[in-house]
Amino acid sequence: MSTLNLAPASTSDYRRLAEKRLPRNLFDYIDGGAYSETTLKTNVEDFEKIQMKQRVMHDVSSIDTKVELFGEQMAMPLVLAPIGLAGMMARRAEVQAVQAAEKAGIPFCLSTVSICSIEEVAKAASKPFWFQLYMMRDRGYVKDLLGRAKAAGCKTLVFTVDLAVVGARYRDVRNGMAGGLSGLGKLRAGLEYPLHPRWAFDVGVKGKPHTFGNLADFVPSAKSIVDFKAWVDAQFDPSCTWKDIEWLRSIWDGNLVIKGILSPEDAKAAVRSGADGIVVSNHGGRQLDGVSSTINMTPRICDAVVDQTTIIMDGGVRSGQDIVKALANGVGSVMAGRPWIWALAARGEAGLDALLRTFKAEMDVSMALTGAPNIADISEAILD
Ligand code: FNR
Repeated sequence: MSTLNLAPASTSDYRRLAEKRLPRNLFDYIDGGAYSETTLKTNVEDFEKIQMKQRVMHDVSSIDTKVELFGEQMAMPLVLAPIGLAGMMARRAEVQAVQAAEKAGIPFCLSTVSICSIEEVAKAASKPFWFQLYMMRDRGYVKDLLGRAKAAGCKTLVFTVDLAVVGARYRDVRNGMAGGLSGLGKLRAGLEYPLHPRWAFDVGVKGKPHTFGNLADFVPSAKSIVDFKAWVDAQFDPSCTWKDIEWLRSIWDGNLVIKGILSPEDAKAAVRSGADGIVVSNHGGRQLDGVSSTINMTPRICDAVVDQTTIIMDGGVRSGQDIVKALANGVGSVMAGRPWIWALAARGEAGLDALLRTFKAEMDVSMALTGAPNIADISEAILD
């Protein structure tokens, strides 16, 4: 089916439009996962396997999707997950995303490795956004970064812990990210830019500067994913342990959420470390291929710590139905990554606005037809 006359209805439509709009290497960078992409696939497929139970003759004339997370009112239990390099997919994408999130009444989480800086996003935002941190070897830089986040009004810090080492993404390798392209391959790769003129104009020309906004002193250019990977390899600190949370706590007095938990044992350790919340995550299937999907692991983690902390999950959330399924499995909220960047790459901020309205409408219908008009009514009982 052609995408030419496609009025996008769902996340997968935005994905197809993004595939058309973006140069191959950038689309693959978003879309791909680690190694054979088994975990990436099961993240989505395991959601598809969960069935809801249709219930009728309940008063569902009023549906309420609102929740409160870390003292913040949200129109629905969804956070835009941190996505590195987003501003290479759409013009100043992080600014567009924070604006779309505010319109939808949900939080946006800015990545450490964003194109737009904390300050640029803060200028476009009218309320606090979340900030995501990777632990760098240079602790002075980390401290400085958190000072900037605090000055910009961020109250919730998402500390990502599942990138101690970087899983190989074969699509990036095939696209020549690590070198190895033949002469013809290089020619074809070079042609990707003129072959995608809308992206070339929107991002290549109008979307400058192409630097890592938060790390401009560290990494001068974000034009190539090679620069990015080299920086990650050199700077991310693989020696980080739970002890470092104590240090983080000493320099960050806002909410602290640990992202990248995939076992009940680590969930308990996160609670012991004094975190305010966790994100059950396998980095969207981009790190250790062959681990469980997040939705499959969620009930066990919820059993272990649900009374002691706030639990968010991500990985494979593609619709409002998925949000309801995740809540029925015990979490307080979800994050979604690829959906928001596909929508922005495909249709800009208007595309993301529309996708978030779709997620909300899908939640409304799912809650109505499972007889659960309020968030508190969503439990295992709505699943088949
Ligand atoms: C990510 N993710 C991520 N996580 C993080 O903590 N910091 C980051 O900079 C990034 N960057 C990033 C880039 C891209 C292109 C993707 C797809 C993902 C992981 C992200 O926050 C989230 O955990 C996953 O995207 C969730 O899976 P779904 O929603 O994409 O299936």
